[in-house]
Amino acid sequence: MIEESTRSDRDYLFEKARKIKESYFGNKIYIRGLIEFTNYCKNDCLYCGIRRSNKNAERYRLSKDEILSCCETGYSLGFRTFVLQGGEDPYFNDERMTDIVSSIKERYGDCALTLSLGERSYESYKALFEAGADRYLLRHETADSEHYAKLHPEEMLLSSRKQALYDLKEIGFQVGTGFMVGSPYQTTESLCKDLEFLYEFKPHMVGIGPFIPHHDTPFKDFDAGSVDLTLLLIGIIRLILPAALIPATTALGTLSSRGRELGVLSGANVVMPNLSPTNVRDKYSLYDNKICTGDEAAECRYCMERRMNSIGSVIAVDRGDSPLLAGSL
Ligand code: 5AD
Ligand code: FES
Repeated sequence: MIEESTRSDRDYLFEKARKIKESYFGNKIYIRGLIEFTNYCKNDCLYCGIRRSNKNAERYRLSKDEILSCCETGYSLGFRTFVLQGGEDPYFNDERMTDIVSSIKERYGDCALTLSLGERSYESYKALFEAGADRYLLRHETADSEHYAKLHPEEMLLSSRKQALYDLKEIGFQVGTGFMVGSPYQTTESLCKDLEFLYEFKPHMVGIGPFIPHHDTPFKDFDAGSVDLTLLLIGIIRLILPAALIPATTALGTLSSRGRELGVLSGANVVMPNLSPTNVRDKYSLYDNKICTGDEAAECRYCMERRMNSIGSVIAVDRGDSPLLAGSL
């Protein structure tokens, strides 16, 4: 894919992608405050550093008060979307999770709340939605079922993943999906299936980032994904889903010091600085060398603002809902 494109093909693509993005969003980039609230996980995805078999992972959970205090810090820094992300941790059952969701929405009624908690039942998603959650992120990881089976243990199925995504949409969430670029055994055909699935499912948000090996996983000796291919795919996805919210991800920023800026220049329009307390940051280790693990929330917030301003974009402080909801499309 990437091998066949020339520099000028790619510049042409990125220019088109930027134009389309600007027609919907101007030069605004949305910020989402990411709170990584548990690294316990019952799953065993082969690529992920917090998989249950990784006995070296130092596990933590944030309490409800700690989560609320991250929101308080985030709110004062201008965040109007909070993303609660965690491993699939049975401790956070519906009762605990709906309590957290409704407490956040009670205090920060003008903010959007995004959840990223993996696969749950229809009833559970519905309870979370009714408690006030607005959005849900669940990457499909790969839309090629044979490839899916090489990245996940037997008990995980692409069909269940897709069902969860359709459930979320039906319930009324703004839904995000996505995949890793350059994950082991990925082929151009599997990437084409990813793009087809995105076109068919039409998510409101699409998160893609390069695969990066983690030293305590079975994929420790595989190469990381390519920054250039990730950028190319961001550009293509912007053309396929013009109004999508597409983050320039931390993984992209980890592989290249200007990765997030390049992501935005290729068609991304969201950045997700970390609001997790600094004492747990390095424990939410999905892959090696993750950036920002030593930085305070405020440092990331202003760092991101400078980075965006340096490429002619501005950080938007509203909720940044999908334009698809406003009935404008
Ligand atoms: N490299 C890059 N991304 C990863 N993720 C998990 N492990 C890795 C890794 N080793 C991504 C998955 C998951 C998201 C939260 O992080 O796509 O959905
Ligand atoms: Fe975290 Fe730059 S975004 S330090």
